[in-house]
Amino acid sequence: MKILILGSGGREYSIARAILNEKESHELFFMPGNGATNSLGTNLNIKDYYELAQYAKSNNIELTIVGPEAPLVEGVVDIFKSQGLTIFGPSKEAAQLEGSKVYMKNFLAKYNIPTARYIETSSIEDAFKFADKLITPIVVKADGLCGGKGVIIALTHNEAKVAISEMLSGKSFGDAGKKVIVEEFLDGYELSMFAVCDGDNYILLPAAQDHKRLQDNDKGPNTGGMGAYAPTPLVNEELYQKVRDRIIRPTLDGMKAENAPFEGVLFIGIMVVNGEPITLEFNVRFGDPECEILMPLMTSSVSDMFYKAATNRLDEIKVEFSNQYAVGVVMASADYPYKNSTPAEIIIDNVYHEEIEKYTHISYAGVSMIDDTLYADGGRVLVCVGIGNSIREARDRAYLRCGQVHFAGKKLRTDIAYQAL
Ligand code: AMP
Ligand code: GLY
Repeated sequence: MKILILGSGGREYSIARAILNEKESHELFFMPGNGATNSLGTNLNIKDYYELAQYAKSNNIELTIVGPEAPLVEGVVDIFKSQGLTIFGPSKEAAQLEGSKVYMKNFLAKYNIPTARYIETSSIEDAFKFADKLITPIVVKADGLCGGKGVIIALTHNEAKVAISEMLSGKSFGDAGKKVIVEEFLDGYELSMFAVCDGDNYILLPAAQDHKRLQDNDKGPNTGGMGAYAPTPLVNEELYQKVRDRIIRPTLDGMKAENAPFEGVLFIGIMVVNGEPITLEFNVRFGDPECEILMPLMTSSVSDMFYKAATNRLDEIKVEFSNQYAVGVVMASADYPYKNSTPAEIIIDNVYHEEIEKYTHISYAGVSMIDDTLYADGGRVLVCVGIGNSIREARDRAYLRCGQVHFAGKKLRTDIAYQAL
């Protein structure tokens, strides 16, 4: 099959890698891809979605998979579908579940899906009044997409009010902060769960845990994610069932009732409080680096799963997972997450190590290729993934691979998967 993948990160690289490992052969295209994806397929540079759809049509691309949220929120799926193309991802309307926190919270409230108590408002008085009623810490969120930075956990009422004022005045996030959510703080442990959905049916993937902070022991600033592992032992069958019954099923039914059936990846940020799963947020795409550790755990065809999801036929297939564990460790550049770093050559030791060869691999993200040399030129540069029969084994293997990768200023956490060990 000819498949187009939108995006440029490790997430998209890992989807491509999983597809190329299938028995059937496929031809891959990336828009825009990165310096490593062009060794897996063809990188394109067609920014206009109508032009891209035209390209897909004239090149007989049978399936398009959208990685990141921005094209979804901009409506790439609607454009491709209007041209009769098969594309996996939610419509512009359904992507509001991630694109607008106000839409998401109001949806959750309307369909009685568990979430933190909140107010959504553009009135500073109402926001202050609600914040005064909450005990600290208090969570303040900007409505729109802020690249993962739009959530403030305020330790005092005063801090919450400063955050509210700065968002509503447009000072901190411009238009994305013109409406805010003020909500109660949930104290528990966080999980990432992913359901691949076709509007009616869904496949729930093994639960993962991400590591959002930059430094060990969950210190330092928030990032897109510095590492992840799956499946996490923090979830048992009972919790999966609660997530299915209380969150995923009512979400799919609710979105249908809203005339915005949800097709694509429903990424549920969950806080488990006293054994009960509470929805923190939805994203409408795979997590990154969660995707990099989930893809290698899939033993059935990944492309077929996406194809069936995109054609409303998920009920026809059985998706299978390995019974192993995967741990992914992100290697980031020197100034991540503050600013771009000077491109640095990536050197990978050319030493054969059987365990590394067999049980680890690299998913490339912020890299560019110049004259056959790979450079680290993005924030999160690559993810070293280890597979094993236990989390410890998978983790040790991922770190063995990290030891072979060198570039100036490289940064990584040394405690990925600590919650499970
Ligand atoms: P969000 O973008 O909504 O997922 O928020 C980013 C991060 O902020 C989450 O991954 C949580 O760690 C934290 N967070 C968000 N909302 C809450 C809440 N109500 N209580 C506790 N932590 C929260
Ligand atoms: N790793 C979290 C995210 O992709 O949003």
